[in-house]
Amino acid sequence: MSRPPITGATRLAGVMGWPVAHSLSPRMHNAAFAALGLDWVYVPFPVRPERLADAVRGLVALGFAGCNATVPHKAALVPLMDELTPIAAATGSVNTIVIRPDGSLLGDSTDGHGFLMDLWAHGVEIGKPANRQGDDHAAAVGPGHRALVIGAGGAARAVVYALAEAGVRVAVVNRTVAHAEALCRLVAAALPKAELSAHPFPEALPRLAADADLIVNTTSLGLHGDADPLPWDPAVPLRPGQVVYDLIYHVRTPFLRLAAAAGAHAIDGLGMLVYQGARSAALWTGHDEAELAHWMEKELTHNDERLR
Ligand SMILES: NC(=O)c1ccc[n+]([C@@H]2O[C@H](COP(=O)([O-])OP(=O)(O)OC[C@H]3O[C@@H](n4cnc5c(N)ncnc54)[C@H](OP(=O)(O)O)[C@@H]3O)[C@@H](O)[C@H]2O)c1
Repeated sequence: MSRPPITGATRLAGVMGWPVAHSLSPRMHNAAFAALGLDWVYVPFPVRPERLADAVRGLVALGFAGCNATVPHKAALVPLMDELTPIAAATGSVNTIVIRPDGSLLGDSTDGHGFLMDLWAHGVEIGKPANRQGDDHAAAVGPGHRALVIGAGGAARAVVYALAEAGVRVAVVNRTVAHAEALCRLVAAALPKAELSAHPFPEALPRLAADADLIVNTTSLGLHGDADPLPWDPAVPLRPGQVVYDLIYHVRTPFLRLAAAAGAHAIDGLGMLVYQGARSAALWTGHDEAELAHWMEKELTHNDERLR
């Protein structure tokens, strides 16, 4: 699929990271822009942490419409924004910058939205995320649902916030329990009605696993396949009817294989990547998020039978 020639009218977006070469975002955004005939380009920028503020000023000066951010910039962007969406403020994380016509900067975090959208795409009706800027990220549905989230790092913040906002009770299980406690405090400060609890990994798994409707691995354990320890205790049974989600999308992880073998509904993180990106692109372009997501997913999966 070819794109229109780049001219002075072409709109610009991109992603800043350090490193950034591994990012799938340029591929999926440019494919969606081309498929939809949108005169936009999306460029990866390797930005050293100490040059982040300069890079943001440069985007504004160069007339960019917006930019994504990945590791390690998500937290450092927060004080550089003029305004934050509620989830970006609550989680202290920005993965999407919207540059308004007057040059002011809106910081959003679309990871939690991407996570919920992907659950919905897989028929898991835990919370219904809205599609437009300004709407709530998730309407509260599913009282009585319980989620067990493994990990308490940056990705866990978005996942726990999105689940709690959707009315789901969340148990956070983490190797360093103090990090899980801090995460619960952070989300509770923004969502005082949220039902959150913090527990040690892996000791708490036997007690919490059976009641969990949804189990989410937000750690990076599994990124190196069988070379990594499991983010789970294999002696603790998983069961049919449970949804097991692994944020990792590069490989089909041993944890997901274990879950599938137990008859659970096993979902990898590729759809979350797609939907967080589609949300960002929808904010910049005003184009329909579902259409953007369709073409992004097609681009990432058409050559990759491993994941689908
Ligand atoms: N699908 C998507 O769109 C998407 C989006 C964002 C991130 N991700 C993926 O999510 C994963 C996590 O990213 P992140 O930014 O949240 O990382 P992070 O901030 O570094 O957090 C890592 C978490 O993993 C835990 N952990 C690390 N090594 C462990 C071990 N050996 N045993 C037990 N726990 C361990 C850490 O526990 P401690 O607190 O004890 O250190 C921490 O809770 C990455 O694989 C990333 O690619 C996917």
